Amino acid sequence: MLNKSGMKKPKIILQILFLAFIVVCCKSGSTIKNTKFKTLNMNNFDTTLDGKKISMHAISNHNGIQVFITNYGARIVGICVPDKDGSPIDVVLGFNSIREYIMSADPYFGPCVGRVCNRIAEGKFTIDGIQYSLVTNNGPNHLHGGTKGLHKVVWEFVKVSDNAILLSYFSPDMEEGYPGNLKISVLYSLSEDNALSIEFNATTDKKTPVNLTNHTYFNLSGKSDLSINNHLLMINADHYTPVDSTLIPLGAIDPVEGTPLDFRIPKTIGSKLDQNNIQLKYGGGYDHNYVLNKTKQDSLTLAARVFSPESDVQMEIYTTEPGLQFYGGNFFTGKITGKDGKKVGYRCGFALEPQHFPDSPNQPAFESIILSPGETFHSLSKYVFGMKN
Ligand code: GAL
Repeated sequence: MLNKSGMKKPKIILQILFLAFIVVCCKSGSTIKNTKFKTLNMNNFDTTLDGKKISMHAISNHNGIQVFITNYGARIVGICVPDKDGSPIDVVLGFNSIREYIMSADPYFGPCVGRVCNRIAEGKFTIDGIQYSLVTNNGPNHLHGGTKGLHKVVWEFVKVSDNAILLSYFSPDMEEGYPGNLKISVLYSLSEDNALSIEFNATTDKKTPVNLTNHTYFNLSGKSDLSINNHLLMINADHYTPVDSTLIPLGAIDPVEGTPLDFRIPKTIGSKLDQNNIQLKYGGGYDHNYVLNKTKQDSLTLAARVFSPESDVQMEIYTTEPGLQFYGGNFFTGKITGKDGKKVGYRCGFALEPQHFPDSPNQPAFESIILSPGETFHSLSKYVFGMKN
């Protein structure tokens, strides 16, 4: 299915006609399906871990978009979209083989993260008078569900079709220190209007905190060695949650107005990074949770829009979540080699993670993330791709 032009040894005349067709399409700005993309080798994603089979599947639409998903961490491995010339580019950072994903020093290339994404102060929280202690895997704090969070386990492929993939994972009581048997599913689906939807559902048999998101690193230029600082970013948020030096929220909800965190009017990611600002200092750049502007709780609303002037690819994110973590790739040091064979450089990828606010179980001012038996956790985010008009 992948990377097939459908042409077997075409005669020279057919080749010329085909090339002419491509040129016409490029000039008219049309999209071309799978013509030049050097695709991922699916065989490199077959393995077994913890006695469970890992593989990869792709979904696609008729506008030349392809999304590659493995059940290792229910992870996005690639998203190929047409660039300004109609050539497919992969706008997601990652690797060429499952082995590299498993071994990676940074395990957050594309996976679903949880049970609680982002940070929990000192890895501690209390429910109904019982204190729970989680692993502290990020300085003094707990990060992204622990050392073997949802990103490091093998999910089950429940259903795979041409344009949708449903995965599930059963997280047993006290896994990574979290109470309750948690049943989780994530549905990836790709529509003909170029929206990749990511929909989570979860249920529990004991009260437990749940905050699920996808942690894909994007570089909309399609090149992992190009800085994302020239990407134009808009975040639909008047407020954010300021943090301490370990990136735990202080509990306040502050206006972005007058700070370098203000992305209400689109600006390049790098344009204010050199400002002397304590929040930028603590984050080593942008690593902050935005309080999305919403008139109705849980409604699917625009969270962010990003554009690469290199490729002309634009991505919009819509979400039912109240918050959006913007992380600007501050921890990339150039040591990791990505799937294009290039080193992933400093600030060469960004994550925009729809979620509830960090450290919610310890923050009385934030919306609760405690899921109770009988309730269903639900979260929907859409990543819509297009060329800027
Ligand atoms: C982000 C987080 C960053 C960093 C990154 C993974 O979600 O905000 O601080 O931990 O994940 O390297």
